Amino acid sequence: MIKTKRLIALLFAAFAFSSAISIQAQTLDIDRQLKYCSTQVHRALDELRHKDGTYDYTMQPRNILNGDRQKGWNCRPAKAEEWCDGFWPGILWMTYQTTGDEAVRRAAEGYTESLRGIAYQPCYDHDIGFLMFCSYGKGYEVNHSREYKDVILASADSLATLFNPIVGTILSWPREVKPHNWPHNTIMDNMMNLDMMFWAAKNGGNPLLYDLAVTHAKTTMLNHFRPDGSCYHVAVYDTINGNLIKGVTHQGYADNSMWARGQSWAIYGYTMVYRYTHNKVFLDFAQKVTDVYLKRLKQTSDDLIPLWDMDDPRGTKAPKDASAACVVADALLELQEYVGDEKGAEYKAIALQTLAQLSTPKYQSGKRNVSFLMHSTGHHPAGSEIDASIIYADYYYLEALMRAKRLNVR
Ligand code: GLY
Repeated sequence: MIKTKRLIALLFAAFAFSSAISIQAQTLDIDRQLKYCSTQVHRALDELRHKDGTYDYTMQPRNILNGDRQKGWNCRPAKAEEWCDGFWPGILWMTYQTTGDEAVRRAAEGYTESLRGIAYQPCYDHDIGFLMFCSYGKGYEVNHSREYKDVILASADSLATLFNPIVGTILSWPREVKPHNWPHNTIMDNMMNLDMMFWAAKNGGNPLLYDLAVTHAKTTMLNHFRPDGSCYHVAVYDTINGNLIKGVTHQGYADNSMWARGQSWAIYGYTMVYRYTHNKVFLDFAQKVTDVYLKRLKQTSDDLIPLWDMDDPRGTKAPKDASAACVVADALLELQEYVGDEKGAEYKAIALQTLAQLSTPKYQSGKRNVSFLMHSTGHHPAGSEIDASIIYADYYYLEALMRAKRLNVR
């Protein structure tokens, strides 16, 4: 154990010193941070609970915009148009897994249940994966209920209705086809939603879902990336011949910039595709998209938390995106297992060090508000959720901590 810790410290030091910026190594106490998350969840539940002890399960926590001036979550109605609605139920299920607290479990059930109808209506967009798998999927890990499985399988079938066989990907945003003249658009974030399709195919759903997910991942790999492995946010395709028309951005700084969260979705996405397929092409690609992210991170950030977009000309004065760091740390903890050897150990060291940095007062909300983390950026070009607490940062932070804990136990 001590040996492993020393190796990780050495590897991290190698990473830090090869950077233009020197990064102070932090230590990570996983149990302490899991306890911190549970404390914040209880504070949030206290804040959300009505005087009569009930909750409005149809309102899901989304963001806290004013750092320490606002304590509680801004909530959004439970509906398909709100892509973040599955994260809070997922956080509650994960908290139940770490604490066994029955009150948290009851809240998890209530907030999850409010999303059920989304599985049985025409698919609004690709985010049904985030919505239903981060909620019902995490719940299923706890209760193995047939009812939950049915909701997930129906959601996966619903997502499949957006698959275009001529292009070979899912249409991410049907609503953006007309306004932007993007006949078929696929966004990098969509990679995350393949998780639900793969899972469904493996767990009693239509086996074809596996083929659709693999085709989406392969088509995306061919068209959505620049030669160095950095990704566009949006790939626009021709619906007649299936060809790529262009790569553009929607939430990034520029069409050719590295929007940190977009790249983080690619890292997590291809790692997860390898989990289900065991196809080395995807493992190699997961490393390629990771390595270009880490290279740019070292060049642009003063720590392991990226700027919201690595090409923002303000440099280190630009807002950060803690959420991207959470997604990357989480993904690296999985990827390092598949990669092994020195490279895997380096990924692990970077992941743990990222979590350690996120777990300092610089990033943790602490008593300032009820979220876990501050300093995420949602949609900078729209002026929305800049340098804020955002629910998905907390979700992936907790998922990563739980993954780190499982690794340590082994
Ligand atoms: N999926 C939207 C985002 O990452 O902001």
